[in-house]
Formats: sequence, structure tokens, C-alpha cells
Amino acid sequence: MATYATPLAGLEGNVIYGKDGSVWVNFLLEGINVNPYNPSKVSSVQAITDDLFTSLSAIDSSDFLILGIKSQIRPEDIMAQCAAGLPGLQDGAYADLVTQLNVFFRKIKSGELASFERLYWLSVAMPVGLTTTEKILGKMVITDPHDGISIKSVRAFNASVMKAIPEKFHARPTTPQHVRWVFDRARLRGLEVPFAPKTPAKGEKPDKAAMKFGANSFPQVNIDQAADTAALTEKFIEDLADRLNERGAKALKSGKSSAVSSFLNNFRSLTSSRMLAIRNLETNNADFPDGYTSHQVMMGIASPPTRTSTAVNSFTYIVDQAIGCDADFALRITFDASAVSKETASKALRDMKSEDLANSRDELDVEDYADDMNNVRELHATVKAESNPIGMKVAALFAFAHPDMDYLKRRAATLSKTFGNAGFTTYQAVGGQHDMWMQMLPGVTRSRLTDDLMMTTTSYLFSGCMPLRKTVIGDSKGVPVAINTENALGQIILWDVLNATDKGNASITVCGAQGAGKSYLIKLLLGYMLDLNRYVYLIDQHKHGEYEVFATTLSDSFVFDVTGRQASLDPLKLYPSEDGTAAQVFMDLWLPLLNIAIDSPEAVALSRMLKHEFRNARKLHSTRALIDYIRRNPVDVSESLSGKFAFWGEQTFCSALIDPVDHGEVINLPPLDAQSHCVVFRTHNLAVYRGNNIAEAEPSERYAAVMYNAIARAAAYRFSQIKGACAFFGDELHFLDGNDRVLDRLIRTPDRTGRKDGNFIVGGSQLASDFGSQYDMIKRKFILRQETHPNAVEALEWADMPATEYLVSRMLEETSPPDPDDNNMPTRGREGEGWFNDGSGNIARIKVLQHLRADRGRMADTTSSRMIRAEELVR
Ligand SMILES: Nc1ncnc2c1ncn2[C@@H]1O[C@H](COP(=O)(O)OP(=O)(O)OP(=O)(O)O)[C@@H](O)[C@H]1O
Ligand SMILES: [Mg+2]
Repeated sequence: MATYATPLAGLEGNVIYGKDGSVWVNFLLEGINVNPYNPSKVSSVQAITDDLFTSLSAIDSSDFLILGIKSQIRPEDIMAQCAAGLPGLQDGAYADLVTQLNVFFRKIKSGELASFERLYWLSVAMPVGLTTTEKILGKMVITDPHDGISIKSVRAFNASVMKAIPEKFHARPTTPQHVRWVFDRARLRGLEVPFAPKTPAKGEKPDKAAMKFGANSFPQVNIDQAADTAALTEKFIEDLADRLNERGAKALKSGKSSAVSSFLNNFRSLTSSRMLAIRNLETNNADFPDGYTSHQVMMGIASPPTRTSTAVNSFTYIVDQAIGCDADFALRITFDASAVSKETASKALRDMKSEDLANSRDELDVEDYADDMNNVRELHATVKAESNPIGMKVAALFAFAHPDMDYLKRRAATLSKTFGNAGFTTYQAVGGQHDMWMQMLPGVTRSRLTDDLMMTTTSYLFSGCMPLRKTVIGDSKGVPVAINTENALGQIILWDVLNATDKGNASITVCGAQGAGKSYLIKLLLGYMLDLNRYVYLIDQHKHGEYEVFATTLSDSFVFDVTGRQASLDPLKLYPSEDGTAAQVFMDLWLPLLNIAIDSPEAVALSRMLKHEFRNARKLHSTRALIDYIRRNPVDVSESLSGKFAFWGEQTFCSALIDPVDHGEVINLPPLDAQSHCVVFRTHNLAVYRGNNIAEAEPSERYAAVMYNAIARAAAYRFSQIKGACAFFGDELHFLDGNDRVLDRLIRTPDRTGRKDGNFIVGGSQLASDFGSQYDMIKRKFILRQETHPNAVEALEWADMPATEYLVSRMLEETSPPDPDDNNMPTRGREGEGWFNDGSGNIARIKVLQHLRADRGRMADTTSSRMIRAEELVR
């Protein structure tokens, strides 16, 4: 075991005592959730950040460190989150799901689905009077560098810092184990991402071992401050050896390391390097005698953009982007009232109005979104212009890391350019790499180099960059459905099926162009519903029964072709008669089909005949029986009624509502026995009416509309008898266009009242415009690829996102791009890309997860060459 980056005198609780006499209190903060697609949400995060800095500025300290540390989320913790949404899982309630969760767990462990978070470390130096250096200079005799610092004063300072941090950051004091963790992170950057130590929950006893970790028990590292030049020299010596005769070459090669060091010693300037090599000695093995090496390039920001149009994404948030290497950042801060004089402040404030706009704008890539922004900006400007600007000096330091030195060198050049394009000047501290590396660790006093890199700003101005941020979406527990790709941290997006309706509206819509992955996602949700023993009624319009095919992977499903002669949805067979349900459903379905007005004599006559007593006494237990009865027992309106029914009674596609007649024999179809957890209604033989006036529709189209209504009724009735989550699934829901009543039944009703009963709908459609006003209350929205500009604009607006040029072109060109070599199906590996609005105010770019069961993935494949058709299933 060795020492920390800088000599420590002690580690106690969250306090670090430096050998130089410095004392630091340390806290871990959580980032504030940013919805980057909503300017008012962006502004509110900026305001919360401003609160933090404003509050910190009141603390008596001249050295603050905020370190953004990437931390791996423990696979066990992700699984625990899943399990929290699945009560009974441990007791074997969902056997089908356990197997899949095991696959999921393995994918996390293997790194395929590893996810990370960025935590923020706040370290504040306590004012301790003279530093050791000063004491030495003052020729004082030092016995204890912390002489004169009482435990009481440390405690008080600690409490004052804790109190200053706004609650929204969920600050918790660090432990000595965290100091080891932050050191591990620094030495292993680019090699692995350590798990953060667990902080004991409130009331929980702290882990004894965690508290014991000492100031001298750190893993040993060997830091090569001239990684790149040493490698260059080595290469030079090898080349040189090749040119020498055999004897000379042998001599040179055998003494290579001494040759390198003597070479470097003779040309001292060569040792000034732009890269560090950190050798982790404890990982040494035969291939890597010095252990694994983390190569790191440290970069500082020498100056901010002169024009206040900072690109937020290319500032600290850059470390979370897909930049091809591992990264962290640190901010060294000091507050300085004089840094911003009255005049500069008001000038800054003037600029800030545009700065704030620029920040949010860049984040959103908004070109044509000024209206909303203006409001936000004016609000801010008004509030801000009144308060006193808080002067702040900030040095921003970045560490980029990768195991491969040459690769990292190229990445660093690109990253420096990225900063440059956004107006930042970077400084790569030739020879100062190690200094900068140290500056990114807590407990290390600010160096001269950092002082040189400090930029003057104000709390408000700097908060625009939202350095303490995160973007996470979805439910906090439940089954995994997608990956958050808003950044490269890989958050797993969960869906809390069982408690879905607790939060309010649980309904979900999915829209996307042909082949974008709508059905694949809907099938993923469907699979989970069934694994959780929930109930789903589903309409499958597909010619070849794609849901019938998929349902073969479900534990308990029933497929019902509504034009086949399998079963009946006849209300007189399906619903109880005594309480009038059967009569009510009958009238609702038939009056429109028969063109009967409610105030007509026919309607009145029908109502009489539908009365329970009347029907029961005459054994009218089916619509066919009722039609025959009317024909045989003429009253005033019988002729007209018989005539109206007769047409439908003759149509073969009407078997599900009127028992068919075969060679003069009535076939008494059994009522649909819908006890199955999943009922698939196949409706492919019923043409769908897509006009606006149902009266103009063809007979089969008019019947189709009634049929969907009948299905919706059956679903609503069945769900009303089941406790817990039930869902109605309709892929390609545009089939309901132009028939508001059906839509109402399917969506609005279960959606409004269904919430209490745990019912919801899942609806898919190619176009967002297919979701009419009936869908207004649905808040959870997936939007996948679109193919035309207007469709993309509609989809983005549907998801409550700004339809900026940038986002439109991203949706058209960079979302599951079609592969021309594969029938324009999504390019392999790029399937299921899009955005998700989780209905709780969060929106992020996502990628839908693959089905965890191989058979389900196979059965969800709709690529024409691979698709399995219902006709091909072995029954
Ligand atoms: N998240 C995903 N992971 C892997 N493959 C996927 C994913 N999403 C879709 N696919 C594949 O892409 C193909 C098309 O998907 P899908 O059938 O869901 O398209 P769709 O949007 O429903 O299209 P259509 O409008 O034609 O019905 C399928 O073969 C499926 O296997
Ligand atoms: Mg589909």
C-alpha cells in the first residue's frame, strides 16, 4: 500500500487533512435532471445551479473543487430496481420473467448493457490560517500541521457547508472509502470505471471497514509524466538499432531502458510531455510487468468564448458524450466579489440575457424556437437584473483517458478542436500534466498553474453551463425497455407495468415510419404484460397475423378471427341480461349499423324486445334468435326491422355478431371465452374505412367499425372485472380514423376512468397525425424514425419537442437509418432508435432494447424474407 496523490495527515469521516495543513470537507452531490428539449426546464436547472453557487459564495473559503466523476452502476443495484417494481418475483410469481432477467443481468455484467452515472464531488477548503509553507517561511517550529484547528471548528465548518447545499442536490458526506474510490477513478481512467462505495442510508450504521480506511493505504501507482516522449525515444532507439551492425544493435537493445533514460536526461526539454502514463503496479502480470497503464491527457480551458454563445454540450457535458474515450472534469472555484465590479457586472448581465438564450438554445439546437425562449429569457433577465452579481473565478480542467496512447493522442487533438469550434481555447499544459492530474483530486491545494487558468465569470453566467447535471428518464422501477442514448452513460429505461397507472395516465403511443420498429417495441411491452400475468386484448390487422405469430411465445393466449366461425361477440350471448348490460351494448352496436334513430318507433320496439323478462320468456338468447322472432311475430315495425337486419344476417363476415346459417341450419357459435390473459382479435378480412363520413363507407367497412366497437366493449367489460393492470393494444390504430365513438370506447373511456382500475392502452401508428384528439391525454410517447419532413415535424411536436431543423434532420437521417442492401430495413444495430417522452416531464434520445427471449425476437421479425406467417405455424 502506498500514499494518496498528495501526502495526507488523516482521513476522518468526510474530512481530509492534508500534510500541508489544509483541511477539506467533502460531499457527494447528484446532478439535476435536465430535459434538454424543454427550454423552461433547462432554465430551471440553470436557476437551481445558480442557487448552489450563490449559496457556496457565502462560505468562508477560497478553494472549492467540484469534480464530476463517472461511476459505474452496480449490476445488482439495477436488478434491485427492476425487482422493486415486481413484488412477488422472489417468491416465484413470474417464472418466465426470471429467466429473462437473468439474461439481462448477464448483459449488464458483460458490459453490453453497462450503465454509468456522473456523481459530483464537492470539496471545500477550510480557512486554516497559516499553511505549512507559510509556517516554514515564518521559521515556526511545526509539530502538528493542524495545530490550532479544533475538532469543534471543523465540525462547525462541515455543517455550514452541508447546510449551504440546496436540497435538490441530495448532498451526502463522503467516507474515507470514497477518497480511495476517487483515487481509483483517477488512476484507472480509461481502463475501468469503479463502483462508488455505498453511502449508509439515513439511520443505518456506517460500515466499520469503510470508516477505517487510512491515509496511507492507497494502491501503488507509477506515474510517467512523459509518456509520449518516452515512447518516441524508445522508437527512435529501436530504429537506430536497426541501422547499426549486429553487435551494435544487440548492445543498444539490451541496454534499451538505460539508453532511453540517458537520452532523455541529455535532452531535458523532451521530458515535457502532453500525456501521462499511470501504471497500476498492483495489476502487474507477465505481459504487463508494470501493470495496466492508463494514458491520460489533461486539458484546461485557457479562455472562454469571447462572444457569449457558449455551446453547453461542448463544455463540461462533453465528458458524457460519445467521444471515444473515458473522461472526467473538475472545476476549481473561488468567489471573488471584486472580480466583477458594478460596471462589469451590469455589462455582464446585459450579455447574460443573450448568454442564457444562447445556452438553452444551443442545448436545444433551436433555430426557430425564439418565442418560448424569449419569455424564459425575459423572466430571467427581470429576476436577475435586480440581484447582485456574484463574482466567481473558475478553472475548468478535463482528463481524457484511453489505454492506447496513439489513439488518445488523436482523440485529444479532435477534442481540442471541438472546444475550439465552440469558441473555447484549450491549454494542454506541456510538462504540467501531473500538476493538472493532481488538481482533479480532492484534498489537493490549488496550484499556480490552476490559478493561471482561472476565468472570471459570475455565478449566474456560469450556471448557464449546468455543470452538475444528469438526464435520466423512465420509471424508477420495473422491467427494462430501452437505453437512454442522450449521453454515453447508458441509463437503462425501466417500465413499471404493475403500478403503471398509479402515477396517472399510463397509456403509451408509438409512432414511426414503416419498419422503424413500432411493432417490435409493442411486442416487447406485450411480452412483459403476459410475463407479469396481466391481461391484454389486442387487435391484429396484419394480413399474415404478426401478433398471432408472436402470441405463440406467450404463456396464455387465444386467437380469434372475427370473420371466422369460431366464436361470437354477440352482446346477447356475452353480457348479463338482468342488469340491462346486454340490451345497452346491443343498442350501441346496432342502431348505427341499422341506421335507426333513437326516437324512431323501431328503436322503441327493439328496446322492448331486449328487456330481460321479454327475452328470457321467449328464449331469445342470440341476435339470430331475435331476428327470427321479429320475422315470425309481426308488429307495426317488424317489416322495416326485419329488412334492416336481413342484409347483415346474410353477410358471411358478420358471423361474430349474428350466428351464421349453413344450409338452412343456424350454427350456434359459443360466446367468446375470453379467460385467456391475451386475446388476439384478427381483423384482416375487414376493410378499414379511412374517410370522414362513415355513411359513405362500404358495408364491410361500416361493419368493421362496429366490430372494433364490439371488441372494445368486450375488452372494457372484461377489464372491469379484473383487478390490476389490463391493457388494450392496437397497432396501426389509424384504422379507427373517422369513427370517434369507437375511438372513444377504446381510448378515451378506459383512459379516463380506466386509470383507477389500472387499465391503459398501447397504440401504434405510422404517423403522429393519426393520433386524434382522443389521444390528447396520453403522455407517454415513443417517436421513432420518420421519412418525410412534415411527418417528422408532426412526430416531434406530438412528443412535445421543438421541431427544429436540427432535430428534424436527426430524425430523418440519423435515426435507425434504412439499409438499402437489406430492403431498406433499419441498418443492423441501429434498430429501435428514437426519442421517449416518459410522461413525467423527461424526454431523451433512446434505443429500444432487444427482446430478452430469442424466440420472441425471432417471432417479432417482420422482415419480409424472414417473417413467419400465421399460416405457417404448426398448430
Ligand atoms: N429494438 C430493436 N432491436 C432489434 N431489432 C429490431 C428492433 N426494432 C425493430 N427491429 C427489427 O426491425 C424490423 C422492423 O420492425 P417492426 O416490425 O417493429 O416495424 P414497424 O415499425 O412495425 O413497421 P410497419 O409499419 O411496417 O409495421 C423487424 O424485423 C425487427 O426485427
Ligand atoms: Mg408494424
